[in-house]
Amino acid sequence: MGRGRFITLEGGEGAGKSTQVRCLVEHLAQHGIKALATREVGGCAGAEDIRRLWLSQHEGFWDPLTEVLLIMAARREHLTKTVWPALEAGVWVISDRFVDSTRAYQGIGLGLGVERIDALYHQIAGDFWPDLTLVLDLPVDVGLQRMKARSGAAQDRYEQQDTAFHDVLRQAFLTLAAQEPQRIEVINAAEAQASVTHPIAARMDQLIESGMK
Ligand code: TMP
Repeated sequence: MGRGRFITLEGGEGAGKSTQVRCLVEHLAQHGIKALATREVGGCAGAEDIRRLWLSQHEGFWDPLTEVLLIMAARREHLTKTVWPALEAGVWVISDRFVDSTRAYQGIGLGLGVERIDALYHQIAGDFWPDLTLVLDLPVDVGLQRMKARSGAAQDRYEQQDTAFHDVLRQAFLTLAAQEPQRIEVINAAEAQASVTHPIAARMDQLIESGMK
């Protein structure tokens, strides 16, 4: 059995990533491909503990570099305990956020610099990168409205930031995609869920076919 593929979904708040991750896993299952849905920050017991610790404090509590080190520690756990063993076993892994979130939020949003994030990432992951990254892109006001509409959803620290910060994030993801078009693709996520699922499923079919050649 060949190695599984690693696909990450990225984007700003309210882009519908978690829904699309579920749809993707179902789509792959219909093709007889076993896929695991996971998320960052989190995805295994230790990483979820770190997530709770990180999010237990208000925005601005952590020094930005400390914040990145917490995220990278969680990522190392996630990779070694969940992602790499699954890929080795031939299972595809679909992650709701991964390193491009750190590059966008902390690297560009908090101003630490993408190069610094990439250097730290290299320490924990070597030359391992996702096979494919889909950025779910939508206007900031649409995403924030969707977040607010989610009844009872507690706001994460970055959801409380002003619109200007979210605009910076949106541009950050688009810039990262433009810099690495071979790995990162932008999906229009402003439409209804089904219209977003369709192009993602079509892209998966291409990936499945390319693996069969
Ligand atoms: P979520 O809402 O997608 O679960 O993400 C929780 C928050 O974590 C969200 O505001 C984005 C943020 N985040 C970072 O700031 N850096 C990262 O590296 C990751 C993975 C998430």
